[in-house]
Amino acid sequence: MSSAQLITLIPGDGIGTEVVREARRVLEFYRDKRGLDLDLWQLDLGADRYLKDGTTYPKEIRERIEHEARAVLLGALGDPRVPGLEHARDILFGLRFGLDLYANVRPIRALDDRLVPLKGFTAKDIDIVVFRENTEGIYVGMGGQFKRGTPDEIAINEDVNTRKGVERLIVAGFEYAKKHGKKTVHMADKSNAMKHAHELWHRCFFEVAKRYPGILAKHVYVDALCLYLVQDPRPFEVVVTCNLFGDIVTDLGAALQGGLGMAASANVHAADPNRVAMFEPVHGSAPPLAGKNIANPLAAIQTVGMLLAHLGHADEEPRLEKIAARAIAEKKCTADVGGSLGTREVGDFVLNELAHAF
Ligand code: NAD
Ligand code: IPM
Ligand code: MN
Repeated sequence: MSSAQLITLIPGDGIGTEVVREARRVLEFYRDKRGLDLDLWQLDLGADRYLKDGTTYPKEIRERIEHEARAVLLGALGDPRVPGLEHARDILFGLRFGLDLYANVRPIRALDDRLVPLKGFTAKDIDIVVFRENTEGIYVGMGGQFKRGTPDEIAINEDVNTRKGVERLIVAGFEYAKKHGKKTVHMADKSNAMKHAHELWHRCFFEVAKRYPGILAKHVYVDALCLYLVQDPRPFEVVVTCNLFGDIVTDLGAALQGGLGMAASANVHAADPNRVAMFEPVHGSAPPLAGKNIANPLAAIQTVGMLLAHLGHADEEPRLEKIAARAIAEKKCTADVGGSLGTREVGDFVLNELAHAF
């Protein structure tokens, strides 16, 4: 087996393919010009492949990723030709659940004052990291339908919360706070309504918090969190929450940082950084933008920064973030963030900056 680090690329559907094309060029830069020993293994999984031969996430690929890869870079999955999204769930959840990537780490940082939509606030006021539980909750697919299509039909999705699953995600949030000198961790739940499941979150949160005496542990109901994030996001540094709420809160968070074209994320098994991890922009396949060279690639490019940090190149995440900030400041960006460049041309800008960044 070669000593190169195997990086699996899954561009996926819609704008996923366009933003990963630019992200791939960044990885190629590090491989070809900075001497990183990367083996880029690109897969054609996604709606086209599924519609052609029924393939979603085959066993041989799953096994090679699990045993040989260091990281996966995913674009996005979702295509109007597959209205049930079965391929997307197989691939996305196959990676998240299959690799036990229990922490979905979603930083919410604004890179320029111009991107902040809140009156009276600037970029320095938006600096949050959401730890979203990523292997349980309502996403497990337990449940079913009964008497479908009749007036008596029933539809159930179970919300699964295990002590182990809740605790390890909360620990990941506190460990991050400790490592990065953050003063407060908030836990967002609906323990007022979801008496059983979120009583567990509530109790577990304050038990774990006792192990971190230097960090303030605060509870917030998730509905109130949505209010506070828009009124004044400054008190929030690290937020831990369940799978579904994390999904929703991070789209709201993306709006605070200039939209989904700016939001990066990592899916990790936080207790063991040596395990393969999966990296993806927070956004989806945005069908109306697809094929037009107008999607913002900066979320995917910053996601590469998180991927490189996972490989041990911690300096590259802030380096790529600074380059993204310069793209915004100099309006070398796409229309969603106030520029007039295309996806490819933003990639050209980033590559040119990288060529002069060392
Ligand atoms: P979306 O994230 O694709 O788009 C939401 C909004 O954000 C749209 O207005 C879109 O134009 C804008 N946007 C998103 N990414 C952008 C970018 N890079 N540059 C500029 N603007 C951008 O969400 P949606 O429309 O709700 O979903 C579309 C499809 O994507 C669905 O099939 C959904 O299930 C899927 N999806 C997949 C993932 C994933 O694979 N991780 C994530 C979210 C949604
Ligand atoms: C995300 C997406 C996915 C999720 C969808 C596509 C299932 O919205 O990654 O944020 O809900 O996790
Ligand atoms: Mn989402």
